[in-house]
Amino acid sequence: MTTSTQAYGEPWYWDNRYSNEPGPFDWYQKYLTLAPIINLYVPPSHPVLVVAFSEGMVVDGGYTDVVNIDISSVVIEAMKTKHQDCPQLKFMKMDVRDMNDFQSGSFGAVIDKGTLDSILVSVAMCGNNSRQNATKMLEEIWRVLKDKGVYVLVTYGAPLYRLRLLQESCSWTIKLHVIEKLASEEKSDNPFWELTKPVPLNDDGSSVEEALGQNPDVHYIYICTKEISANSHKCMTGAV
Ligand SMILES: C[S@@+](CC[C@H](N)C(=O)[O-])C[C@H]1O[C@@H](n2cnc3c(N)ncnc32)[C@H](O)[C@@H]1O
Repeated sequence: MTTSTQAYGEPWYWDNRYSNEPGPFDWYQKYLTLAPIINLYVPPSHPVLVVAFSEGMVVDGGYTDVVNIDISSVVIEAMKTKHQDCPQLKFMKMDVRDMNDFQSGSFGAVIDKGTLDSILVSVAMCGNNSRQNATKMLEEIWRVLKDKGVYVLVTYGAPLYRLRLLQESCSWTIKLHVIEKLASEEKSDNPFWELTKPVPLNDDGSSVEEALGQNPDVHYIYICTKEISANSHKCMTGAV
C-alpha cells in the first residue's frame, strides 16, 4: 500500500485529488508574489513552459506565450475549460520526463513549482527510482530550453537536498533566491531577505545557512541558466 506522498508522481493520485478539491490550483506561491523574480529573469516576450499552471503570468504579468503542462488530465481539462477565452495560455497533458512533443530549444524559460518535489518524494515509477526520474526531468527541461534560457525551480528543498542533484544533472549556472512561505496576504513589508537579491551560494551550499540561519521558513527559488560552452559535458543530447 503506498502512502499519499509516495504517490505524488502518479497521475491517478493527482486525478483523484483534482477531482475532489475545488480550485484554484496554485501551490506554494502565487504568480504575483513571485512576479519580481520572474520578471527579473524572464522577459515577457519569451515563450515560457510552466510545469503545471500559472494563469497570473498572462493576466497580471503580460506574458504572451505560456504553455502549461501537467500529468493529470483532470486538471488540464479543468484549466482548458476555465481559460478557453485566453489564447496566450495553452494546456497540455504531458509527462515532464518525456516532452517529445516539444522540439529542443523551444522555450526561453521553464517554471516549476512543486513538480520536481513531487517526483522526488514518489516511490519508483516506470522502473526508475525517484532520483533517476528527477534526472530525466531535468535533462528534458535542459533540452527544451534555448541557450541562456532559465529553469526557475520553486521548491521547499534547501541546497543540501537540491544542489547536488542540479549540479550533477546538467551544466547549469545556478543562482539562489528565497521567499517567505507565509500566505501572500500575510507577507511582511520587511522580509528578512530581499526577494530579488541572490543568496550567496558556494559549491556545497553551506554559505546559505551562514546567510539565512538554520531552517529558515522559506521556499527556495533556484535560477538555473542553460549555458552551452565548450566545457558543457552534460545534457548535450539535442541541445540547441
Ligand atoms: C505540488 S503540485 C504543484 C502544482 C503546480 N506546480 C503549481 O504551479 O501550483 C505537483 C504537480 O505535479 C504534477 N506532476 C507530478 N508528476 C508529474 C510528471 N511526471 N509530469 C508532469 N506533471 C507531474 C502533479 O499532477 C501536480 O499537479
